[in-house]
Amino acid sequence: MTELNLESWWQPFTNMRAFHDNPRIFTRAEGSFLYNEDGQDVLDITAGLWCCNIGHGRKSVADAIHAQLMQLDYAPPFQFGTPPAYQFAERLLAHTPEGINRLFFTNSGSEAVDTAIKIAHLYQQSRGKNSKTRFISRDQGYHGVNIGGTSLQGLPSNRLGFPLLEAVDFLPSLLDIERNAFSRGCPEHGTDRMITAFEKIIAQHGADNFCAVIIEPVSGAGGMVPPAKNYLKKIRELCNEHDILLIFDEVITGFGRTGSAFAAVEFDVTPDMITIAKGINGGTIPMGGVIVKDTIQQSIFDNSPATMPEFFHGNTYAGCPVAAAAGIAALDIYEQEGLLTCASGEKGHYWENALHKLRDLPQVIDIRNIGLMGAVAFDPEKLPPHKLGAKIHQRCYENGLLCRSIGDAMVMSPPLSITHDEIELFITRFRKSVIEVIG
Ligand SMILES: Cc1ncc(COP(=O)(O)O)c(C=O)c1O
Repeated sequence: MTELNLESWWQPFTNMRAFHDNPRIFTRAEGSFLYNEDGQDVLDITAGLWCCNIGHGRKSVADAIHAQLMQLDYAPPFQFGTPPAYQFAERLLAHTPEGINRLFFTNSGSEAVDTAIKIAHLYQQSRGKNSKTRFISRDQGYHGVNIGGTSLQGLPSNRLGFPLLEAVDFLPSLLDIERNAFSRGCPEHGTDRMITAFEKIIAQHGADNFCAVIIEPVSGAGGMVPPAKNYLKKIRELCNEHDILLIFDEVITGFGRTGSAFAAVEFDVTPDMITIAKGINGGTIPMGGVIVKDTIQQSIFDNSPATMPEFFHGNTYAGCPVAAAAGIAALDIYEQEGLLTCASGEKGHYWENALHKLRDLPQVIDIRNIGLMGAVAFDPEKLPPHKLGAKIHQRCYENGLLCRSIGDAMVMSPPLSITHDEIELFITRFRKSVIEVIG
């Protein structure tokens, strides 16, 4: 048992009192495994928090971080530049859809979302559309924890008790187990429901009042739910028709998760902005960003006095040279090992087939997957909702498997570098854990 002073750190999204009774401390990581303080290996089937996409403990990334620290640890990003930030931005932008080539760095996904909200407002003002201030988001969507992102997210417990921006309307959640259970990839149903809801929202408030739509191309924290067939293309069409910006929150779906560098590429839909973080440098140093259409930046520039910053916004560590150097080294790995596209290739198929074999487990009501993501949803039957997921999560951990429980669904997003043998180990440990809990 740990000798650490557990009172000293108030941890995020953690039931602290329960954690103090049952602390779970990791001390080491390598490849697809975390190791806890008892030395037990725990297969990391969540890539940390959807961020360690290239696996843990990559030496070339560590070396790049060390070298950059010794060369130039920090210089202010306000009015000054450092080579790694430009070099990394240029390398990254080679993977974005055409016409979306400007990168504003942040330190996290939450900051990326709030930055995108501000850019969207500035853009509408820059072209004289001052009434366009409302946002459209989605039930069960997650857009981080800053006040803008909290206002735009559709997870009730994350909103409760906070003063929020009010001009937000919500599309229905992607989850539709009744009609889509056990779909592989994009399910059949959901696009029509979204279109009806979208048009109702526009009819209620008027298109002239809408600034932007923000959605995750695949719902992540809402339970790993892929979009229905044609959903993203339709939403792009609706935004075009009503002159509304489209922001893809790709904090989870970026960096190879769906089978392309970005979901925008995988689904062949070009949004106006893309928010990124997590996998950006393999989960090694906090970093995020907003990728913006060139035309949006130009409109804001054209509307700004030439002697002032065009955007009164930014963070001390934006474009931090050490984080950027880590990003370049991580991108080398992504590119050289084919990790940006493996989720839509043979590895993605192997993952899909392995996951759907779990259908015979008791009380399974849905299995869904896309790219290297998956979810297995359980009917809690006699237990109150959300109790079964937490129990399976704990048993998985005891059996050497780190899954994530969202309600009564177990959600997976393995490192893209995971091997077939490790996928089989996941299946074995998951199956054992579920049977031990449900019988
Ligand atoms: C879609 C999405 N947006 C934003 C965020 C917030 O990112 P961060 O935790 O880096 O602030 C997350 C985090 O899980 C996310 O999944």
